[in-house]
Formats: sequence, C-alpha cells, structure tokens
Amino acid sequence: MTLPVMYSRLDYEAAAAVIRQYSALMPDVGLVLGSGLSRMADEIVSATVIPYAKIPRCPQSTVPGHEGTLVIGHLEGVPVVAQRGRTHLYEGYTPEQVTFLIRVFALLGVKTLILTNAAGGVNPAFRPGDVMLVNDHLNFVGMAGNNPLRGSFADADEPVRFISTSHAYHADLRRKAHEIAQEAGIALQEGVYVCVSGPNFESPAEIRFLRMIGGDAVGMSTVHEVLVACHAGMRVMAMSGITNQTIDQIDSTATVSHDEVLEAGGLLVPRMSAIVRGVLRSMA
Ligand code: HPA
Repeated sequence: MTLPVMYSRLDYEAAAAVIRQYSALMPDVGLVLGSGLSRMADEIVSATVIPYAKIPRCPQSTVPGHEGTLVIGHLEGVPVVAQRGRTHLYEGYTPEQVTFLIRVFALLGVKTLILTNAAGGVNPAFRPGDVMLVNDHLNFVGMAGNNPLRGSFADADEPVRFISTSHAYHADLRRKAHEIAQEAGIALQEGVYVCVSGPNFESPAEIRFLRMIGGDAVGMSTVHEVLVACHAGMRVMAMSGITNQTIDQIDSTATVSHDEVLEAGGLLVPRMSAIVRGVLRSMA
C-alpha cells in the first residue's frame, strides 16, 4: 500500500468509518502497547480485532513483537481501543504516519491515551524489569525537525499550531499510577524518556551524554504519539518497561539485543498491566 506523505482529515475519517463498521463501541481510552507488551491486549474482553491491513492508509507493523492489530473491547469496565503493536520511524515511516492511528483514536472519541514502550535504562539505578512512569521527555527526533505536528491538520476546523508540552504527562494519572503501584507492591520509578530514532542501540558516548542531560530511559517511540495526543486534547499517561541496561563504556563485554528486549516483557507485562488496569478501574 502506498501511504500519503501528508494525511488529510478525510484519511482519518475514512479509517474511523471502517473501524466503526467492525465495532460500534465508543472507546474512552486508547492504549498503545509496545515491544513485548502486546500480550496486555489479551486481557481485553468481548474484543473485536481489526488487522491494520484492513484500515485504509494505516501503516503496517514490520517489527517482530509488534503484531499490527487494533483490539476494541472493555478492560476493567472501560471501553478501550488498543494498538497491539506500533510503527516506528526506523521502519521508514514519517512521524505523521506513525501517529496516524492516534488521530483516528481522537475521531473515535478517545479522551485518554495510555502508552507503553520498551526502553533502555539510562539512569544507573534502573534494572531490567523496572517500570518507569514517564513524567517528561527529551525529543531528539522532534527537536531536529521530525515532528508529527509539522504541517499536520492544516485542514482541521480550528488548527492549533503551537502547543504546550509542560503538562504533557497528566499529573492526576501519574498520581493514580503511583497509588496503584504502591497498593500492588510494585516499585514504580519515574523519570524522563529520551526519544531517539534508532534502529541502532546507542553508543557508549551517546548513553553518557543522555545521562548527563537528564535522561532516565531511552527508546525509539512514544513521544510522537504523545505530541499528537496533546494536540488532540487527550490526557496522556506513558510507562517505559526497562528491558535492558544501556552500555556506557567502550569495550564493555555486555551487548543489547532485540531478543533481550522481548524477553524482559515476561517480567514487565504483569507489572505494567496491573498499573494500567488499576488506572482504568479508577476511571470506570
Ligand atoms: N535503546 C533504545 N531503545 C530501546 C532500548 C535501548 O537500549 N531498549 C529497548 N528499546
């Protein structure tokens, strides 16, 4: 399928119309489930599953661990739509293409977006299996011009050009996530997510640099979606599952691999899922 470089409002509306033919449910919450975390979607009840291939102009996932389906149903009594697998810039997609479904979520009525990702621990205190609630970001990709809000939605009724990101990660949702984690006995870290384009893992000098400028976790996704969600007026919560420690010394014998990233999902899914479910319960 050839994808447009720039989408128009009609593209988002056409996709939303196809999704509505599959399910009449009006989702309040959108979920984006990253590498190794797709299994969380198995918990959605009375689920309608829609392959991305059936949604017009929707980019297809090409990465192992990213299944490429939308799942619509209820989780903890809340109507949700989940992206089971996302797309990334390193697959060759533009920021606008990787955020296509977030714009569609907005048309479906989604008011709150909860995102998960796999990330490397930049903060030396983080260990694989830790969960980090994102409270802010450093967007290397966006600051360098690859921003999903660039040129987008010019044909919207009321296009907003300059959005604030000082409250991107909603304080109430963060507070709730900490409450739930504490009740469930899950140690929940909090920190700054650094968005890089990938697909290479970072060099040791890059990791030392990211640590120096205040990064706690590094990954290749999420912030593009967060920006579009903020632009669409959604409340946002994001969590990084720390899948690996990053390597900050040259000639270290340690390596990072995608298999390691997927394996850590085993530890992370129950923890992240408990937090997501608790936050949803509080909204039901
Ligand atoms: N770096 C970037 N992205 C990642 C990593 C990492 O170490 N681990 C999982 N996603």
